[in-house]
Formats: sequence, structure tokens, C-alpha cells
Amino acid sequence: MDDQGALPPHVLIFPLPFQGPVNSTLKLAELLSLSGLHITFLLTDFIHTRLLRHTNINSRLETYPGFRLESISDGLPEDHPRSSDQFMELFDSMKAVTKPLLKEYILTSRRPVTCIIADGILGFTCDVANEIGIPILYCRTLSACFLWLSFCLPKLIEAGELPFRGDDLDTPITSVPGMESFLRRRDLPTFCRSGDLSDPSIQLFKTEIQELPRAHGLILNTMEHLEGPVLSHIRAHCPNLYTIGPVHAQLKSKLAGKTSSSTSSSNSLWKEDRSCITWLDSQPSKSVIYISFGSLAVITKDQHMEFWHGVVNSGTRFLWVIRPDSIAGGDSGSNIPVELSLATKERGYIVGWAPQEEVLAHAAIGGFLTHSGWNSTLESLMEGVPMICWPYFLDQHVNSRFVGEVWKLGLDVKDTCERDVVEKMVKDLMQVRKDDFIRVADEMGKLARKSMGEGGSSYYNFDRLLKDIELMNA
Ligand code: UDX
Repeated sequence: MDDQGALPPHVLIFPLPFQGPVNSTLKLAELLSLSGLHITFLLTDFIHTRLLRHTNINSRLETYPGFRLESISDGLPEDHPRSSDQFMELFDSMKAVTKPLLKEYILTSRRPVTCIIADGILGFTCDVANEIGIPILYCRTLSACFLWLSFCLPKLIEAGELPFRGDDLDTPITSVPGMESFLRRRDLPTFCRSGDLSDPSIQLFKTEIQELPRAHGLILNTMEHLEGPVLSHIRAHCPNLYTIGPVHAQLKSKLAGKTSSSTSSSNSLWKEDRSCITWLDSQPSKSVIYISFGSLAVITKDQHMEFWHGVVNSGTRFLWVIRPDSIAGGDSGSNIPVELSLATKERGYIVGWAPQEEVLAHAAIGGFLTHSGWNSTLESLMEGVPMICWPYFLDQHVNSRFVGEVWKLGLDVKDTCERDVVEKMVKDLMQVRKDDFIRVADEMGKLARKSMGEGGSSYYNFDRLLKDIELMNA
């Protein structure tokens, strides 16, 4: 790359400041760094502090020449929780405060920045790139099916399918090309259920997504064989797509044999409790259902109890991640029914945060009760683990529909978590239909590995991305 004495391209990467997007964008950054590019990975101060607290990130990144981890303010006070119901506050604050800081940062960077890679929902980054006169590539760390749905919000409004109130949720939605035969109101993001077109989330996704074509290209953490039909619709708006997923698996295969510690790839914003791996080691093959609702979902105490009863009544072994902030009003403390405590001691294990990729790759795991976050979906798919989907918000509702109806990788139980339903679903996934689901999931995992291998679409697109960035440096 620098055979004529030229410096390698310097890419400034700016992710959306939440666990899922930070995780996959950091993996993309590492992949680019392994290919010889200089990287500045710019986080918000809030995320940076948490990442430093809970991981060995600095010593890990030392092994990458020319990699810098930096941070700037998101404009919110330090003690602001930045929770999932405060998205808009964060976005507004970043537009006002972070935008000028980002511009200043790039203009004063000792190494000139060749191009920016920023999350496509942060439209102000494109303004900054244009003002400075450097190219920008957007990345979206959510599914392509959600991206396409967001593109179609104006169509839905035009067709009178939006707005609606949270009723008649089985009404078909027919104005999203490619999804006419299976999409229902309940598969749209929950912000569509407000009955109000001025809902800030509808406005955000409607406007920011239409702006994606302003960038030189769009990087997606997905695969052609998985989301091909939807991708062809997106290409009509953004012709230069780089489908390079799943990035976590790409990185894992590039690092195979190079890292010494199994914890070394963690990008967790919570402390990982590795004792669950020891517990899993003593469980029979494919006997355990892993339960996690990701980094942002908050459930009520009642929902928590319904899930708990349902899983226990199914008789299945379980490993459950209960994040400290994930139950509204805190957990049930000492008021836990005795039958739940006993059953949990006997065949369950609860942690505050797990090394999820490692958990899903463990031989004892036979299923995943998930919120259908995009990273969780890809991580499960790569390991051939079938899913029960209980989506919380955003892309998760359409992801879970694809898992259940299109990819046949599991069961979509959105909008209900009554104990009887949970019990039946767990039994279906882990016993009754186990072999069918595992066969489909294994097949999917194989296809994913093929797309990452030489000659595969994700391999080819990553190579094309590198070459295009090098051309920007010429
Ligand atoms: C957010 C959005 O809510 C979601 O809709 C979108 O798809 C991505 O960003 P999040 O809750 O962060 O979702 O879910 P997900 O995308 O699945 O990411 C969670 C990440 O945390 C995964 O990479 C997972 O491996 C990791 N994780 C989760 C752990 O490492 N340990 C855990 O205990 C739980």
C-alpha cells in the first residue's frame, strides 16, 4: 500500500454511541486496521469511559499499528443515563454540540483524514465531511430489512398504512416492496404504533434515511444471500453498497490463532461474568437456552416474572443475562417465588452480562431467547443457534419477522410473554421441533461462512471497500 512512500489512508470512524453499534463498528475498524489502514476510532466520552472500565481495549489496540482510540463530548451531562427512551435528546445534543467538535477534531488532526466512516443515522457527519471537503462512507449496523422499511416510511404514509394506533396489529402492510406477503402492523417498529405522524422517531428515520445517498457508499453488516431481495431495493437508492457481514465473524477468522486470551475481543460496556462459561462446560450438548434482551431493553417486573415462570415450567436448562438496569424499578429482590429459586439453582444460571459470542459458540447452547438486536441475530445465525424472538423496539420487530417467517430460524413471539406461551415456545424450540430448527440454522451458518470465504460476496465487498478507500488516498 505504501510501496511508493505514501502513508496509508487514515480513516476516522465515528459509531452510534450504543453497545450494539459500537461493538460491530469497532470490529470493522479492527478489520480495516489489519489490512494496513490507519484508524482513528472516535467515541463519545461516555462510551469511551465505560469501554475503558470494562475491557482491556487499550492493550488490545496496541497490537494494531496506527490505531488510535479517541473521544469527544456528546453534549449531555455526565450523569445522564442515555437510555433507550432518550434517543432524541442524545441526537439533538450531538447535532448541536458534537458536530462542531467533530469538525474541529478533523481539521486539527496531525494525520490528515482520508475519509470518514460514520453511522448513517448521524446525518450531521455528512455536513461536516462536505464542509471540510473529504469523502464520507456511511455504515448502518442494523439489518437491511429495517433500512428498507425506513426508506419506505413515506410510501407507507402515502398509502394510508401509517399512522395507526396500537390496535389490529395483524393487519397486513402491503406498501413495502419485497415484504408484501408477510409484513403486518406488528412487524413495524413500535414507534409506528403511536398514531401520530409527528412522532420524533418517525421523523428521524424518515428524514435521516432519505439522506443516506449523500454519502459515497453505504457499509452494511449483512450478507447478500441473507437479505439479497431487500438489498436490491436499497441499491436503487444507494447503488454503492458494501455488504461485508458478519463483521464479528470476519474478525474472528482473521484473528484466529493470533490472540492469546479468550477475553481479548470484548467490547463490552458492562463487566463480563465469565463464570457462566464454567457452568456451561458442565451442561449436556445443546441442552441450554440462552436468554438475553441485549443492551437497551427494559422490561417490567411482571414481564420478567412471566418469562421466568415460562422458562422454568418448560423444564429446560437456562443461562439468563439480567443486566443491572434491565428491569423497570429493579428486580424482585427477596419476593421471588420459592419454586423459581429452587428450579434456578437446579438448572439455571443468571449473570449481569455474559461474553455472548463465546456463549453462543458453546456446545451446551441449543437455543437463544433474544430481543432480536441485529448483532445478536447475526451472532446466533453464525453459530447455528435457533432463536425465540421477543423484540423490544426499532429494527427488532422486523428482524424477528424475518427470523420466523423468511429465514425459518426460529419462532417470533413478539407482543406476548405470558408464561404459558413462553413455556410452549421453549419446548417447541428445544424439544419438539429442535432437529428441524437446528438443520436450518446449521445450513444458514454454512452459507454465512461461504460468503466470508475467498470468492464469497462479503469477502469480495470488503476487498472492494479497501480498494476504494485506497483510491481516495491517491
Ligand atoms: C441496539 C438496538 O436496540 C438494536 O435494535 C439494533 O439491532 C442494534 O443496537 P442492542 O440491545 O445493543 O441493540 O442489541 P444487539 O445489536 O444484539 O447488540 C448487543 C451486543 O451486546 C451483541 O454484540 C452481544 O454479543 C453483546 N452482549 C449482549 C454481550 O456481549 N453480553 C451480553 O450479556 C449481552
